[in-house]
Amino acid sequence: MNIAREPSKDDAIIPYEGLRGWLEAVDGMGELLRVNGASWDAEMGAITHMLTEKSSGTAPAVLFDEVPGYAKGFRTLYGHFSSVKRVALTLGLSTEFDRKVDIVQRYHACMQSLKPLPPRYVDKAPILENVITGDDIDVLKFPVPRHHEIDTARYIGTANCVITQDPDDGWFNLGTYRNQVYDAKTIGCQITEGKHGRIHRDKYFERGQPMKVVVLVGQDPLLYMLAASPLPDGVSELEFAGGIKGKPIDVVRGPYTGFPIPADCEIALECEAVPGNVKPEGPFGEWMGYYSDDTQARPYLIVKTILHRNNPIICCAPQHKPVDETGLLKGIAGAAQVWRALDACGLPDILGVWNHEGGPATRFTVVQIKQRYPGHARNVLHVAANCQGGAYAGKWTVVVDDDIDAGDLDQVLWAMSTRFDPMTDIDLIQKAWASKRDPLWLPGNFNNRILIDACIPYDMKMKGTFPPVVDVTPELRAKIRAKFSNIEFPK
Ligand SMILES: Cc1cc2nc3c(=O)[nH]c(=O)nc-3n(C[C@H](O)[C@H](O)[C@H](O)COP(=O)(O)O)c2cc1C
Repeated sequence: MNIAREPSKDDAIIPYEGLRGWLEAVDGMGELLRVNGASWDAEMGAITHMLTEKSSGTAPAVLFDEVPGYAKGFRTLYGHFSSVKRVALTLGLSTEFDRKVDIVQRYHACMQSLKPLPPRYVDKAPILENVITGDDIDVLKFPVPRHHEIDTARYIGTANCVITQDPDDGWFNLGTYRNQVYDAKTIGCQITEGKHGRIHRDKYFERGQPMKVVVLVGQDPLLYMLAASPLPDGVSELEFAGGIKGKPIDVVRGPYTGFPIPADCEIALECEAVPGNVKPEGPFGEWMGYYSDDTQARPYLIVKTILHRNNPIICCAPQHKPVDETGLLKGIAGAAQVWRALDACGLPDILGVWNHEGGPATRFTVVQIKQRYPGHARNVLHVAANCQGGAYAGKWTVVVDDDIDAGDLDQVLWAMSTRFDPMTDIDLIQKAWASKRDPLWLPGNFNNRILIDACIPYDMKMKGTFPPVVDVTPELRAKIRAKFSNIEFPK
């Protein structure tokens, strides 16, 4: 049986401090590539794309320096999360694992016991090394990239954290929502319907009020990972990050907004959005791998203050056809939330959840279970496809038995090809939460999705009438490994 491992005793010790400490740790793991001389104009994006697309989770993080036209030290970082090890490092989980799903299981276990910690306000901080206001504001003082060849603008925010405050309850949300540059003092902010930053903005605008916003465009990768994760409503990513680290996140009060700004972040833009002020936003190469939902009129942000460290680093994550550097990030973060929802609904014996990177992101979710009762598989499918972590823009949800590794696409396809009957093992959900990034979104911005029960029919499993699997027993495997230790078997 292929049950996910218990969390390691080494879990939840964050072995780095901030982005700069993370880079040192990644360098130590041999997973950091330094590139000098690449242009901001599509070259950095193309290099990362070409390194990542066929790397099967082994691409390095790429730190670009000496960008032509910019001072040495004004850097960009791409490819944070194109390896499972770097996701594990960021979350403070052991970087040793047998199956990719182990990382999801450990993150899920860590979340179960996590106690959010409010941030701690400090007066002195590296982010206050440079505070720029008034006429001196120019977001293009940084080597802001144009990521893809068909993009018509430079985007300062992709692997970012957009901080907004709920006008009713006062909690701060961090969301990853992209920022196009219009000019020195004006940037875009594309927030999809239903996202927390969008709900906050809608509330202000419904009251005819402007909204203050802080955009971090270089920060601790943990904050970026959480900002891009579907955490529940009312949960502040700053407090959640404090809980994961086991100590509060140090913040300063933004001079214009009064918002909490992480003391060790690289670049923070304090901004304001005004109701009715819109500009055409896009085109931008999208996460589904297309130029879909191309150019739309969207609210923009006026930059009021720039805070930055000396030698700042812009964090970037352009998305493109699979596999891109966000596949693992969204996959692991989303899968852990799906697992949490399945547990919260009281569904027993969930052994693994994985969003396959080629999906992309959350569009091909596989849940591995030990079937306990007739209908268990169908329960799991409906919850996984419609819980908060699984609902947005889903397409395929598949449930498999305990002997199938949810993270191994070959095994999943085998189950879908041999344990699944098209007449009885499909359910459809119509009018679900869609994304206009989906080239096939339906009028009204809905989508339809498919649920696949690829488990052995429960009655056949119980009666033992499903044919035995052709395999090598664990005992013979162990014997062979011991006897033929000179043969290097794949893991
Ligand atoms: C690199 C990257 C870029 C993203 N860009 C956007 C974006 O421009 N707009 C958006 O609504 N969501 C975007 N997302 C997805 C959101 O960050 C994600 O749905 C997250 O859960 C939003 O936070 P929230 O749940 O607090 O609203 C992006 C995710 C990643 C990883």
